[in-house]
Amino acid sequence: MVGSLIATAFWAMLPAYVPNNAAVLAGGGRPIDGGREWRGARVLGDGKTWRGTVVGTAAGVALALGLNAIVAPAGTALDVDLPAFDLLAAVALAFGAMCGDIGASFLKRRSGRERGAAFPGLDQLDFVVGALVAVFLLAPGWATDVFTLPVLVVVVAMTPVLHVTTNVAAYAIGVKNEPW
Ligand code: CTP
Ligand code: MG
Repeated sequence: MVGSLIATAFWAMLPAYVPNNAAVLAGGGRPIDGGREWRGARVLGDGKTWRGTVVGTAAGVALALGLNAIVAPAGTALDVDLPAFDLLAAVALAFGAMCGDIGASFLKRRSGRERGAAFPGLDQLDFVVGALVAVFLLAPGWATDVFTLPVLVVVVAMTPVLHVTTNVAAYAIGVKNEPW
């Protein structure tokens, strides 16, 4: 029961988990805010780029389509009724995750935090909130089927643990500048 909830939550959130990591690998180039400042600090900062956002979103959508190709055997192997992704749901999860992260950078700059500064809590959940809000808005039927209350509880409990683990690993192997 708990095992199948965790499997469903992890599977359904994978298209939202991958974009930020893909953006770390792809980032660089022109910042979204074009270097502009607002109230004495950058609007978003150099850590939010067009390339990172586009590549991150595309990576999340591509992953969802890949998962769709293996959803039947994966579900059978795990004995869990895993969801296939509607295209709109996939786009919402991936782009919503990127937007949540961008929104968090906006809040970090407003609170005087430089690029790369940690904001515990926000760093771990910004992309979850963005992805869930976007998927419930853009694909409400799909979202209410998949993200039942127990699945949502597992998502909110599990994501910070996964986020901290992957970021510490990315820092350890040298692909990320800070371990958060
Ligand atoms: N990145 C990007 N575009 C995005 C998100 C991330 O290019 N929309 C890349 C940037 O190279 C960024 C790296 O991924 O430096 C790490 O992402 P993140 O930790 O979110 O950014 P920070 O550099 O820490 O900046 P901030 O303080 O604004 O979060
Ligand atoms: Mg950061």
